[in-house]
Amino acid sequence: MKNLIDWINARFPLTQMWEEHLSKYYAPKNFNFWYFFGSLALLVLVLQIVTGIFLTMHYKPDAGMAFASVEYIMRDVNWGWLIRYMHATGASAFFIVVYMHMFRGLIYGSYKTPRELIWIFGMMIYLALMAEAFMGYLLPWGQMSYWGAQVIVNLFGAIPGFGPELAVWIRGDFVVSDATLNRFFAFHVIAVPLVLIALVVAHILALHSVGSNNPDGVEIKKNKDENGIPKDGIPFHPYYSVKDIVGVVVFLMFFFAVIFFAPEMGGYFLEHANFIPADPLKTPEHIAPVWYFTPFYTVLRAVPNPFGGVIAMGAAVVILFFLPWIDRNPIRSWRYRGFLHKFNILFFVVAFIWLGFLGVQAVTPLFSELGLRFTEAYFLFFIVLWLYNKPRSAIFSFVVFAGLIALLLFIDSIRISGLSAEGKDYITPAFLIPAVYLFLTVLGPVFASRLAEEKPVPTRVTH
Ligand code: HEM
Repeated sequence: MKNLIDWINARFPLTQMWEEHLSKYYAPKNFNFWYFFGSLALLVLVLQIVTGIFLTMHYKPDAGMAFASVEYIMRDVNWGWLIRYMHATGASAFFIVVYMHMFRGLIYGSYKTPRELIWIFGMMIYLALMAEAFMGYLLPWGQMSYWGAQVIVNLFGAIPGFGPELAVWIRGDFVVSDATLNRFFAFHVIAVPLVLIALVVAHILALHSVGSNNPDGVEIKKNKDENGIPKDGIPFHPYYSVKDIVGVVVFLMFFFAVIFFAPEMGGYFLEHANFIPADPLKTPEHIAPVWYFTPFYTVLRAVPNPFGGVIAMGAAVVILFFLPWIDRNPIRSWRYRGFLHKFNILFFVVAFIWLGFLGVQAVTPLFSELGLRFTEAYFLFFIVLWLYNKPRSAIFSFVVFAGLIALLLFIDSIRISGLSAEGKDYITPAFLIPAVYLFLTVLGPVFASRLAEEKPVPTRVTH
């Protein structure tokens, strides 16, 4: 064995890579629950690729055969049902895992210097993942596949000028058709996965070049022993490779519980309308994207002007790229930041989940009003985050508060004429959502400075 390894090492840096990325990669010893999700994302990526390969062996990317080929996989192919359910559940699991992974980045400030590029690669992965999921969803050629794709591709048509041409170019036809299915298949099975894999490699290389952050936000490389090993670090292998197995086992228990007992997850993972073959002549009563897109779908619907909606939806995603430059407070982890910072993050999570919930509901005056209010809250979160970069004077806080309230009122004054009588009833009470949020977060530090008090950051990790 040793001779073989020496032989390889003379030709390929095997041992060097093993040591650099595993046995001598020193990770902080205080990783907690939130640090499982990076390795789980890797696991789901591998599961999606492997199950995807087997699905491709039986699937037919042809508008006349696609739906039936999926039914064939479910009923006739040995273990086909398992492979298909693993792949479909894997798509939702991927987003759950990635959202948890991103949330970890947010609470521990993992995107801050020197980890900005890890975050940027992460965001590019997130975009690629959205494209991958969107195109994959067309493949079963069910009613929701078809109409979901129709709605989303039509969004490009809302771009003034070249929009309609662009939509035709994307579809390869005037409506979603066989040409669209074929190209989405090509992108879904090879083009986007290649990009995803390359981005994941870049993500991990960037991480291993600067080292991991941790729940204390302490830079472990600043405290090294005489051998140059971080005093608060432990080798990734065997410590975290073994610990991550615990996460994998627990994750797989949940994953297979869904696959065996609730593979459609009440219509959230596989929508009911998708069990009906695509019919270009019959629009389903209620078109909603899969749950992981719905927060952004609500942002899209919150703006009455279609192009404005597309811009708002794009901005809701793009703004996340800029987090490292919006949140420049020198303290990384929320453990040592003020109470109001934690409140701000938790409110953002609530707003995001609410937006997601509203995205699967049919539009009513109440829900569309709430959609707009939580969209406002979503964007205001970033302003408040920026505000907390350093202590602000009372005058500055009042000016920001008044300015933002004026902006909200201005938005209301523009849209009020387009509202129904019922919609107008909701406008004032719903205004309280962003207004109270702003009052607490912007003026909170002025009236109760204790709520914004930051704690001293330890120089070594705590446990
Ligand atoms: C296929 C998707 C992804 C995979 C396989 C992946 C993988 C990983 C792995 C293995 C780690 C190290 C372990 C850990 O810290 O949990 C990591 C760290 C990190 N990831 Fe990801 N990731 C993915 C998506 C994302 C996304 C979408 C973002 C954010 C937009 C992101 C941001 C980060 C950050 C900031 C770190 C450093 C965390 C720290 O050091 O505290 N990742 N990722």
